Amino acid sequence: MQLSVKHLLGIRDLTPQDIQVILDTAIQFKEVLQRPVKKVPSLREITILNLFFENSTRTRISFELAEKRLSADTINFTTSASSVAKGETLLDTVNNILSMKVDMVVIRHSASGAPHFLAQHIPAAIVNAGDGINEHPTQGLLDAFSIREKLGGLEGKKVAIIGDIMHSRVALSNIYLLKKMGAEVTVAGPPTLIPKYMKEAFDVRVEYNLRKALEWCDVANVLRIQLERQNQVLFSSLREYNLAYGISKKLLDSLSKKIVIMHPGPINRGVELDSDAADSGQSIILQQVENGVAVRMAVLYLLSGAGGLSN
Ligand code: CP
Repeated sequence: MQLSVKHLLGIRDLTPQDIQVILDTAIQFKEVLQRPVKKVPSLREITILNLFFENSTRTRISFELAEKRLSADTINFTTSASSVAKGETLLDTVNNILSMKVDMVVIRHSASGAPHFLAQHIPAAIVNAGDGINEHPTQGLLDAFSIREKLGGLEGKKVAIIGDIMHSRVALSNIYLLKKMGAEVTVAGPPTLIPKYMKEAFDVRVEYNLRKALEWCDVANVLRIQLERQNQVLFSSLREYNLAYGISKKLLDSLSKKIVIMHPGPINRGVELDSDAADSGQSIILQQVENGVAVRMAVLYLLSGAGGLSN
């Protein structure tokens, strides 16, 4: 089992075959995670650097756990406690750490393209853990794994991605992946948060009416309003956003069928998703987080070139 890529920079670079291999490998690792001893020796020769220049709860913990479950040695880098605060560049920082013999680098950065830059300049395998407004490929993969697990496949499934499409790396990775695997995609939200080129560039449907999007889909993947990436006013207020685009249990119950609710986290409760919908039986949000560990184990294992999925 081999991927066509040396790094995981984005879903854009993967073939449908790559995606299939990652999702199938993740099934095996999910089985490992159900065992009393949730650990395999697959990466015991490998050292992995977790380089997080931006805040993270789920992705960071999930990668760390995936690495430990694979028996890799790990180093965790935090910007605030590093010499980046003294003016050191990204490349100098990474090269200094690599001279201590690191094999793989997991990077989250607020600048789109930071993982691609590293991949061009250093010999280690790079895994993108979210770069600016570009991509968040392991989130796209764990979302796809969760849909496949819940609905039995991806082909022909109708997925509505709802909210701040313009500033979302999760949206882009999901769109690339779902289209490559034969799913139908609608992006929904206020016109000011959906780029005008979406329909032509990505062959997705665009819907500004929330109820119509929800009536159409099998799965709604709901996104947070990313205020930290907005430098202008794109909607009147969070209260008005909730009135027009917030999803409540009452709204879900009024639809003609039961749909699946997903969210990459962090949730802004009472804005894009009300608590009674986020915590309802239709939500698979915590299953997404659980699946993230198995999916990241699969990505690290396949990129490491480790032979044989050791028991
Ligand atoms: N989904 C996601 O990327 O969450 P974090 O920002 O907490 O890692």
